[in-house]
Amino acid sequence: MQIFLDTADLDEIRKWQAYSILDGVTTNPSIMLNDGGYDMEVRAKEICKLVHPCPVSVEVTTNDHAEMLSQGRLFATWADNVVVKIPVINESGEPSLDVVSALAADGIKVNMTACLSFGQVVLGAKAGATYISIFGGRVADEGQNAADVIRNAVDWLDRWNYPSRIIVGSIRTAMDIQEAVLAGAHIITSPPKFLKKFIDHHYSRETVRVFNADARKALAIMAEATKKELAGVRVRHL
Ligand code: E4P
Repeated sequence: MQIFLDTADLDEIRKWQAYSILDGVTTNPSIMLNDGGYDMEVRAKEICKLVHPCPVSVEVTTNDHAEMLSQGRLFATWADNVVVKIPVINESGEPSLDVVSALAADGIKVNMTACLSFGQVVLGAKAGATYISIFGGRVADEGQNAADVIRNAVDWLDRWNYPSRIIVGSIRTAMDIQEAVLAGAHIITSPPKFLKKFIDHHYSRETVRVFNADARKALAIMAEATKKELAGVRVRHL
């Protein structure tokens, strides 16, 4: 299982990279905006360089299929670890499967994104998407069980030997990460703040606090004993 960061914040990426748990990065136009990546090309290239050779998903910004295709081909020239994010359907509901398959035929890795149903996963896999992003939080927004969608998708891909990997995004709590992982997601992509919650625990902190305090006490006892011993030696030499 892999862990991606759902962010365009370079400092956060550096931080999680240093923990040696980072396998990739996903972005979308909203993430770029919120993290100050107003020039998408500049920020995407910075992220790609930072995490190379790990994959970095960069999303197209149009409804038009011909434009999606040319944007996708352009993004793929920015770095060899770019993965082009193509929404499963556009604003009008037209499937983007033709774009997914054309990019895949060019040898460009595609992350088919904004998926909320099992059917979308099936069709994306058939079109040749390298990654398929299920938006767990948004599935739940619609009153559906995200874990069921993830589990069914992963089982179906396995059963028919499709190489597409399921990325679960739209993570909104640390528990969402746990549910996605246990449902069999190949990859989860999380905003940094939920990964931080995934590792933190107040009782772990308290446990470490007690251990450190006891270690300091033991050192103080040893220092005191050494002082007494040295004083004894001095007395014997008088
Ligand atoms: C994943 O690839 C998406 O960028 C992201 O997880 C979407 O999450 P949201 O539902 O919080 O916008």
